Amino acid sequence: MSLKKVILVTGGSGLVGNAIQTIVQSEGKTDETWIFLSSRDADLCDYNATKQLFEKHRPTHVIHLAAMVGGLFHNMSHNLDFLRNNLRLNDNVLQVSFEVGVKKVVSCLSTCIFPDKTQYPIDETMVHNGPPHPSNFGYSYAKRMIDVMNRAYHEQHGCQFTSVIPCNVFGPHDNYNPESSHVIPGLIKKLYDTISQGGDIFTVMGTGKPLRQFIYSLDLARLFLWALREYNEIEPVILSVDEEDEVSIKDLANDLAKAFDFKGKIEFDVTKADGQYKKTASNKKLRKYLPDFQFTPFSQAIQESVDWYKTNHEIARN
Ligand SMILES: NC(=O)c1ccc[n+]([C@@H]2O[C@H](COP(=O)([O-])OP(=O)(O)OC[C@H]3O[C@@H](n4cnc5c(N)ncnc54)[C@H](OP(=O)(O)O)[C@@H]3O)[C@@H](O)[C@H]2O)c1
Repeated sequence: MSLKKVILVTGGSGLVGNAIQTIVQSEGKTDETWIFLSSRDADLCDYNATKQLFEKHRPTHVIHLAAMVGGLFHNMSHNLDFLRNNLRLNDNVLQVSFEVGVKKVVSCLSTCIFPDKTQYPIDETMVHNGPPHPSNFGYSYAKRMIDVMNRAYHEQHGCQFTSVIPCNVFGPHDNYNPESSHVIPGLIKKLYDTISQGGDIFTVMGTGKPLRQFIYSLDLARLFLWALREYNEIEPVILSVDEEDEVSIKDLANDLAKAFDFKGKIEFDVTKADGQYKKTASNKKLRKYLPDFQFTPFSQAIQESVDWYKTNHEIARN
């Protein structure tokens, strides 16, 4: 029997999937076969299509990234779709993984699914402690159910299905569409367009004061590989930079201006909402396992992300 691992990555064409591809290619390991899937390979909301795909590739391991994801407005107006599509997608991937005998599945939750009213810093024990923010309750409950299913598959069938909880991710191959982008790709596109049109004012929504934890997609990819190969708990682990590495939106805007070599003025539109001041997550559990893991310095990761967009803006998801 072959000892070779066959690792299937659902959602392999997105921000996180592309970063995992980059790290896997740089490692060049010969005892692992990697298959990166997109929605064109199969609609994972469809059980039969999912089963066919898994029977074709016969994975020994799965990194499950595929999800219906969207911005605030899309979530608010489509909570039912986010709930049903993600519940179906996750149920199909986990059930089919069980049926074809996958040894380990690492699924992806998110720090934005935590209870709306909670203590900070948030940690892994608090996922189910109260209702999520009303704006994205469909997405959040569907994601939380992955953790519940992992526990149930483990208890009933002994499956090694686990999950990780990243904070805000950014990097090459992000989603830059203003309708659905997160703050970093949104501001990258905005500043790129401002400069292309000869503008000299970079307007950022809100006061610039809120603090956020951002993880570079390539750092997250390295941590995903660690989770796949070495993390043996069923309970989730938060994958985030350290608490002292929170940055303000103002610092982010300054780093972006520097990365673009933008000499104009940065303005903060204080008539626009800030959102929560901070939502700090604790990475104590991760640090217990990997005390020496080095995150890429934020300004370097921003420079690399900006350089990628400048070179690839025509093929980027705008
Ligand atoms: N981005 C963040 O800040 C962040 C933070 C925390 C957690 N996460 C989680 O990380 C994971 C990956 O996120 P991402 O930012 O890399 O997302 P992304 O760039 O939007 O990619 C989503 C991926 O899912 C695939 N997909 C969507 N619906 C599908 C379906 N019905 N069937 C098959 N494939 C489908 C997409 O395929 P196509 O390319 O063909 O559309 C794409 O490969 C998600 O589970 C997300 O919840 C993201």
